[in-house]
Amino acid sequence: MTKKIGKVGNVKKAPRNKARQEVAEYRVNGRAAYRKLRFIDLFCGIGGFRIAFERAGAECVFSSDYDQHSQITYEANFKEKPHGDIYEVADADIPVFDILCAGFPCQPFSIAGVSKKLSLGRKHGFDDEKQGNLFFRIADILNYHQPAAFVLENVKNLKSHDKGRTFQIIYDTLTSALGYQVQYRVIDAQGLVPQHRERIFLVGFKPSRLFEFPDVPKSGPRLGSILEEDVDKKYTLSDHLWKYLQDYADKHKAAGNGFGFGIVGADSVTRTLSARYHKDGSEILVGQARGKNPRRLTPRECARLMGYPKDFKIPVSDTQAYRQFGNSVVVPVVERIAKNVMEALARPVEERPLLVLNDAKKSRHSASPTKRAMGSRKGSRVLA
Ligand SMILES: C[S@@+](CC[C@H](N)C(=O)[O-])C[C@H]1O[C@@H](n2cnc3c(N)ncnc32)[C@H](O)[C@@H]1O
Repeated sequence: MTKKIGKVGNVKKAPRNKARQEVAEYRVNGRAAYRKLRFIDLFCGIGGFRIAFERAGAECVFSSDYDQHSQITYEANFKEKPHGDIYEVADADIPVFDILCAGFPCQPFSIAGVSKKLSLGRKHGFDDEKQGNLFFRIADILNYHQPAAFVLENVKNLKSHDKGRTFQIIYDTLTSALGYQVQYRVIDAQGLVPQHRERIFLVGFKPSRLFEFPDVPKSGPRLGSILEEDVDKKYTLSDHLWKYLQDYADKHKAAGNGFGFGIVGADSVTRTLSARYHKDGSEILVGQARGKNPRRLTPRECARLMGYPKDFKIPVSDTQAYRQFGNSVVVPVVERIAKNVMEALARPVEERPLLVLNDAKKSRHSASPTKRAMGSRKGSRVLA
């Protein structure tokens, strides 16, 4: 027998004790139901969110990423090809779900992305018409499906971009326009993997649930724990590239800039792996025996640096693999957040006034959160 609960679709009858361990308990207005919670994996890349939420006990019901190379990696690992451009998918074609996950594209927000785009004479942030507005595609999906929770991920400086206005609009949209109770935190992955990687996570619930971000240790494993033993010589920098990087670093040092290559060893914690690591690998170069030029990390080492499981398949070229891991989330960080989100959803609904920054009440149920939030930009308070 199946039973409908709210808008979350068919819910299986409470299973017997053994099966009960395999499904999450989900409360809707104080009533318990037993089935797996469902999530959607937007801007899924190679599925970092998916591994984390599956490990936490949830079931993926939809994925989307328009990059063909990422689709290949995703399909090889999850036996499912993600849907393409999220603008081409109608809201109604996304199945019913409980949790929306999205590490939405960060390029318009990241310092590197902004300076590169400015130097190309292009716009950035929300002015970048398509990419900057991808957040609003997320907002419209939230508005249509009204899931119980979401987890969004972006670069740390999302918060300071455009003097805080970008983040203000995002926060206002999620709270004032969409009615979610939202918490956010910048988490550095280096307590779980040997990489300094700070990312902002926004977690929202509707209705409100007691949720806390997980504690992540301040320091953790060292690079030696993820390095391979026999590394192909193709990963060693050519004399030409190594000379170029040293000259470039000298030039910038003379000009007072801190940019340059980063040499690491077994005891190190690396800099942030970027999507452009394939270009010269300069941010993370592994020192080698005397007389040998440093080398890049291999794609497998990058997978480990991002906390991917050791059997994760890498079916694409090195260039694509570097780009994919550099764009990804650190799996064990998201796994901890996912576990807490799942636990929060098993708790009773909280009676808590909505945390809003602006007056929310006027139009909570009207059609476009996007337009409302953009309209609220004038006179809105910048987050502390
Ligand atoms: C920062 S990455 C997310 C990576 C992912 N969280 C992971 O763990 O691998 C952003 C992704 O958004 C995808 N993307 C950008 N615009 C898109 C669109 N309009 N529709 C679908 N995917 C898009 C890009 O191809 C990229 O893989």
